[in-house]
Amino acid sequence: MSAPDRGRVFLSPPDVGELERSYVMAAIDSNWVAPMGPDVEAFEAELAAVAGRRCAVAVSSGTAGLHLSLLASGVGPGDRVAVSTFTFAATANAIVYTGAEPVFVDSSASSWNLDPALLADALEAGRRTGRPIRAVVAVDLYGQTCDYDAIAALCEEFDTAFISDAAEALGAHYRDRPAGSAGRAAVFSFNGNKIITTSGGGVIVTDDEAIARRVTYLATQAREATPHYEHVEVGFNYRLSNLLAAFGRGQIADLTKKVQARRRVNVRYREQLADLPVRFAPVPSWSTPNCWLTCLTIDDDCAATPELVRLALEEVDIESRPLWKPMHQQPVYKEFDAVLNGVSDALFARGLCLPSGSAMSADTQQRVIDVVRRVVR
Ligand SMILES: Cc1ncc(COP(=O)(O)O)c(C=O)c1O
Repeated sequence: MSAPDRGRVFLSPPDVGELERSYVMAAIDSNWVAPMGPDVEAFEAELAAVAGRRCAVAVSSGTAGLHLSLLASGVGPGDRVAVSTFTFAATANAIVYTGAEPVFVDSSASSWNLDPALLADALEAGRRTGRPIRAVVAVDLYGQTCDYDAIAALCEEFDTAFISDAAEALGAHYRDRPAGSAGRAAVFSFNGNKIITTSGGGVIVTDDEAIARRVTYLATQAREATPHYEHVEVGFNYRLSNLLAAFGRGQIADLTKKVQARRRVNVRYREQLADLPVRFAPVPSWSTPNCWLTCLTIDDDCAATPELVRLALEEVDIESRPLWKPMHQQPVYKEFDAVLNGVSDALFARGLCLPSGSAMSADTQQRVIDVVRRVVR
């Protein structure tokens, strides 16, 4: 059923099979189309198993999942939350939704993810100045986990909640543990460009039943358990519909295949661009990435810029994208505190994400490779 190789080549398009159709049709035939239902429960159980967690709560987006995880960890107005600066805006936005303020922390050059040494500096500075960090949101970037053990140890030392933004990392591993297994709560996204999609959706996974109960309550308009509608708190309409959960069940059944396909794409890029002045995202010894996106930087002394490559690809209808523009450089966030080392600035200046879809054929990938080779010499 997948036909993503027709026409434009997208960075990370949905990869849909027959199973999604049959799950969705079964949900329609049984009239379980309204919010909640057996597919939500089954999808949650499947997600908890993939993340090695006791509980999972499916929600309408990864952003909603981060928002609720922060609220359930007691984060609110006036709090300070340390967060990876090298990420998508949703990570920082969720912090601001709670009334807290982000403190941006730069990446380590050896993983591109949150640098534990800089995080320690931020936590110590917060303690010293009487403005402690209430929570840490650490991102698993481009399908590679951050250094879970180092970050968890710091959060324990500073009595700070660790929330894991694993939006891009379903199916990756940290040592022998799955992505999403770290922190008080972890969040995956099922946005259309992720390794599996529900068109839009997300999930919070946790081992803490109290957190699972709290996020479920907040996600369903904070309804009290009374026959009439009783509310003692302001809630949100953040639950995933049964129809989308049914679709997600079809997607997750093929997660292993999708990860393997993305890894093959990654290996082909690494092999076929190995002689060029480019560097691929580093993979630390503790990491087994899902290779959601294959990303590279072009060496400073090379005349070709990422933008020249992007434009050359665009000319033949192939999508590519600069690496994340760090949050501390974003107009909306530039006034907030930041602990920086120049790594994310350099990655943004010289980096590019290449088409990495799990259904991309070797022929299509060869077209991408040929363009990159023509521009970067
Ligand atoms: C790192 C990161 N965090 C959060 C999100 C937000 O997820 P969603 O789009 O499902 O709200 C995304 C992706 O969209 C992401 O890449």
